[in-house]
Amino acid sequence: MALDLTKYVASIPDYPEPGIIFRDISPLMADGEAYREATDQIVKFARDKHVDMIVGPEARGFIVGCPVAYELGVGFAPARKKGKLPRETVKATYDLEYGQSALYLHKDAIKPGQNVLVTDDLLATGGTISATIRLVEELGGNVVGTAFLVELQDLHGRDKIKGYDILSLMDF
Ligand code: PRP
Ligand code: ADE
Repeated sequence: MALDLTKYVASIPDYPEPGIIFRDISPLMADGEAYREATDQIVKFARDKHVDMIVGPEARGFIVGCPVAYELGVGFAPARKKGKLPRETVKATYDLEYGQSALYLHKDAIKPGQNVLVTDDLLATGGTISATIRLVEELGGNVVGTAFLVELQDLHGRDKIKGYDILSLMDF
């Protein structure tokens, strides 16, 4: 029987600021069976999409995307925060549930026409994922799906990525 992955997400009230319930995926990552189960479910979603590359935003998008890339036998490109990528980049700014930020991708991370799966741990307002999608598309990539461990439904993040194929493993 499949594991109940929700048991591996810790909920921390008023972190990092009052009024936010932080959904912490580190218990899931700490449990080999749960981490594998979550990875396998995303791999299953991605299998028939002819994925060439996976892109995930810093930092928790790496945790979700890298094992999926390994399993599919494709590459992974990190979308990083300011000052982290050493070569020429493209940039996208976005609003967060708490704050504002920008993400960058190396200009040669994606080749035009490549099929890209975008991964992250959590979909909240959708700002991070839509910025990541914009980066991929600016480079000519074709976003064939987005995959998350957790979706915060009250924040309606999926409204920002209408038209994309979305997998979320857990709703909170
Ligand atoms: C968190 C989370 C998602 C994003 C979701 O990342 O890992 O990437 O926020 O929020 P959104 O849908 O409202 O954009 P954060 O920016 O806190 O960075 P981190 O992964 O480096 O902690
Ligand atoms: N990123 C944005 N909102 C979040 C939340 N409530 N919990 C964990 N990560 C987040």
